[in-house]
Amino acid sequence: MFEKLKQRWGVNGVQMLLILCTFALGGSLCGVAGRKLMGLTGLENGVLWILLYIVLITLLWPFCVLLISIPFGQFSFFIKYLAKIWNRMSGNKTKVSVAIFASGAGSNAEKIIEHAMLANKSGKGHYSVDLIVCNKPGAGVLAIAARYGIETLLIDKEQFFKGDGYVTKLKNLGIQFIVLAGFLWKVPTSLIRAYPDKIINIHPALLPGYGGKGMYGSKVHEAIIAAGDKESGITIHYVDELYDHGSIIFQGRCAIDEKDTAETLAQKIHVLEHRHYPQVIEDLLKMQNSR
Ligand code: GRF
Repeated sequence: MFEKLKQRWGVNGVQMLLILCTFALGGSLCGVAGRKLMGLTGLENGVLWILLYIVLITLLWPFCVLLISIPFGQFSFFIKYLAKIWNRMSGNKTKVSVAIFASGAGSNAEKIIEHAMLANKSGKGHYSVDLIVCNKPGAGVLAIAARYGIETLLIDKEQFFKGDGYVTKLKNLGIQFIVLAGFLWKVPTSLIRAYPDKIINIHPALLPGYGGKGMYGSKVHEAIIAAGDKESGITIHYVDELYDHGSIIFQGRCAIDEKDTAETLAQKIHVLEHRHYPQVIEDLLKMQNSR
């Protein structure tokens, strides 16, 4: 259970301990303060006393926890935690904070960003792209991020695979959902566990065909043309521990004619990707947001 909480909150063992201490002491302080205040009312123990006491400690609890979080160095965690509870209770639907992982030209990332900006402008959006994660210095997607004023995170192989998979960093930045768009590294288990059903990928073929390790970019289109297939397409799917394997969310198709080459097929696929990926993300996050 503690492991799950650690992953959900993106904290290490020490921070987890400090958070639990804050909860315990904050709760006790709230109980003591509540009783003291009830003493001032002059009421006798009874139904009215209990009802008033419950209301009082519900109101006092956030303040007590915040107060205790200061000496424990957990104020920023608790202010975000309480804001989340408040948003949930008040039915205030905030936008889902998305990180796009991309290492290439970033044409899909750009379409996803543009879509969010337009949808949010008209008040119909459910997500905002707040971070671009990239493993290639100089990748086109970094220039796109700069153009739209989006924060970037250049990741290091060692830390990605042997460290915590950048979970702490992503959680601290408030990232709630991850979209892979041309990201070739396998996603480590630590990240998948920290974001269950909250990481999706787009593959430029109709999975389960032409997927798996080594099947990416032009290699996919070359294999499809070489096989003489009459149809290809895109697959948007959840990410699990295997390459191109998680459950499928959406597939879009296009015909292949005799004149098609790997290059012309790649263009057709890009058109499909740009048309569908942003909308699929929007629909998915609308659904997740309304839960
Ligand atoms: C896309 O074709 C996508 O299917 C694959 O990587 C490519 C990324 O293209 N996963 P771009 O960088 O978004 O232009």
